[in-house]
Amino acid sequence: MREPSLPSDYRLVTVDTVDSTNAEAKRLAAEGEEKAPDGTIIWAKEQTDGRGRRGRKWHSPPGNLYCSLILRPDVALAKAAELSFVAGLAVFDALGSVGEPGHQVHLKWPNDVLLNDRKVAGLLLEAETGGGDISDWVILGLGVNVSVFPGDTDFPATSLRAEHWSATEVDCLESFCRHFKSWSGKWLEEGFAPVRKTWLWRCFGLGEEIEVRLDNETVKGVFTDLDEDGALVLKTADGERRITAGDVFFAGE
Ligand code: BTN
Repeated sequence: MREPSLPSDYRLVTVDTVDSTNAEAKRLAAEGEEKAPDGTIIWAKEQTDGRGRRGRKWHSPPGNLYCSLILRPDVALAKAAELSFVAGLAVFDALGSVGEPGHQVHLKWPNDVLLNDRKVAGLLLEAETGGGDISDWVILGLGVNVSVFPGDTDFPATSLRAEHWSATEVDCLESFCRHFKSWSGKWLEEGFAPVRKTWLWRCFGLGEEIEVRLDNETVKGVFTDLDEDGALVLKTADGERRITAGDVFFAGE
């Protein structure tokens, strides 16, 4: 596999096998800014304990992209959470750059990426404040199913190869880093508004009846908006609900 060529703001750390690139990124970030400056990115060929959102496992055999970016934005923790939408836009654009024509890419709340209506990539954002309000570091983990995908997920999955795309892990990594640099610059300069607007253009199911599975409850309603805090806005039979954590399913699934 060829060596990735990343914009100069990134510092790439490549490993063959690791428990989880997010866990490795956290260990490095905790060693301090000199050891792990903003823009350090850990890339592994496989993970033995890949993690997904809400405590799930992330299927991580060789052949897919697993990476985690260490960021040190000087913003409050609540604001740093917007970075998962920034990264979603970057993955969307990255797939647009490396992909083949005639396919559909969408974003699914909160931070999944769908290819032809199946999940092809996921993002896992983790942050630490060290007690204060400002984040010390933010870890942005990205998994893209390049060659393989799990067959036993609640929401159907796919891979680039299954959709007959020829892009490699290196193509995806390079393209993601380029687009993340551009979207995060826009976010830092202009705030969440342009991110939210573009995310809403690119998301799946806006205006449609959806089902959101929470820890102890399933809520049904029409997906009407993404609010200024990144919450999903749902019009239900009992009124409007703002949802901050859950899994979205579409009618008929
Ligand atoms: C999800 O959709 O549930 C999020 C999946 C995030 C997976 C990536 S793979 C690289 C990084 N390391 C991990 O352990 N998880 C993230």
